[in-house]
Amino acid sequence: MKMTDIIAKKRDGGTLSDAEITFFINGVANGSIPDYQGAALLMAIYLKKMKPRETTCLTRCMMESGDQIDLSAIPGIKVDKHSTGGVGDKTTLVVTPLVAACGIPVAKMSGKGLGHTGGTVDKLEAFKGIRTVLNQKDFIKQVKKIGMAISGQSGNLVPADQQLYALRDVTATVDNHSLIAASIMSKKLASGTDVIVLDVKVGNGGFNPNVTTARKLAKTMIRIGQQMDRQTVAVISRMDQPLGRAVGNSLEVIEAIETLKGNGPKDLVDLSLELGTQMLLLSGKFSNKTAAKKMLQQRLRSGAALKMFAKFIKAQGGDTSGIKDYQKFPGAKYTLEVIAPTSGWIIDLTARTIGLASMQLGAGRQKKSDPIDLGAGIYLHKKIGEKVKAGTPLATLYSNKKEPLKDVAEFVLTAWSIGTKKRKPEKVVVEIL
Ligand code: URA
Repeated sequence: MKMTDIIAKKRDGGTLSDAEITFFINGVANGSIPDYQGAALLMAIYLKKMKPRETTCLTRCMMESGDQIDLSAIPGIKVDKHSTGGVGDKTTLVVTPLVAACGIPVAKMSGKGLGHTGGTVDKLEAFKGIRTVLNQKDFIKQVKKIGMAISGQSGNLVPADQQLYALRDVTATVDNHSLIAASIMSKKLASGTDVIVLDVKVGNGGFNPNVTTARKLAKTMIRIGQQMDRQTVAVISRMDQPLGRAVGNSLEVIEAIETLKGNGPKDLVDLSLELGTQMLLLSGKFSNKTAAKKMLQQRLRSGAALKMFAKFIKAQGGDTSGIKDYQKFPGAKYTLEVIAPTSGWIIDLTARTIGLASMQLGAGRQKKSDPIDLGAGIYLHKKIGEKVKAGTPLATLYSNKKEPLKDVAEFVLTAWSIGTKKRKPEKVVVEIL
């Protein structure tokens, strides 16, 4: 088989056979296919698309390109959630202890942030001493012992995705449904949980500009999950404006802890409860949505979810003193307020601009190898539907570098639109598939 023939076939709109997809993925994983040929095929896939059968085969080959975690030693149905990526999305830090506090084992593989979107592994780094990558044995042991674990990719999990994602990132081919679905689902399937709840974002802060495309991506991933015998549900949620008020690693950890203490912003609480409800329903222990949601609310009110969070941080070696004293988290030497130029109502707040600005302050990375500033980020004082007075702060910028602050303040100001009439923010949960 020749790679040039496979590229030409897809370039001309053909359908790749299972053998051709297997040849491509094996070659990517073992390094025998050079980047320029991998990139050429990715662009051909991007332009000519893949049929559902090709996407499923691509996912399976990627999943089989490395280790697959066997969680069968943990009793019960193991649940996982995954977000397609957004700005200020700290739901994993809230939902996972919440669900685990209901007695459902949560075995969560998480990633690092890339571009304007954040990642859970980076947020966890705000806890001094924490191990964010557990080996398989420790991962299973911890879920069995305390009921939950969160780990970054360890060992050789889906090596083909690591190569392909890096290539997609530099060849403008990230944004294709088959490639996104295969990338996400191969990792979720290889990480061994029985059921998967997907949080598919819609809006400028994520990959899907509108509900139609979000629905299409969600359906593709659900179909792949079902074909691989994993029950999969998708929650489509809004990412037009950032989730909550905090964007940036330490700031988001503090907001997640406040949420677990019962003081969370409404959009974050609503989305966390919906994702948690779907996880409980898929666990098989609940058949009634109202009962599942009630239990989550009770676990939040009683402090059981916060207790579970502290247990999890401690089990992974992290310093839990930050849960009481936020000064323990990495901070920022410099701050700058972004001031409202006019009075009125916030009618728009572009998540993407906030995400990009936060990255410029040091909170995110352009390349996977870039270092990040855990103390950097943006706290939003005003979101859609709120009233603002000229001369008062719209946001506070945080950074450990002084230089970017002024430019970022100018850029970030373009994120807000101020109008004369109140616009009610839309509900964060759009639909469940
Ligand atoms: N998240 C992933 O893991 N992969 C993608 O392609 C997009 C989002």
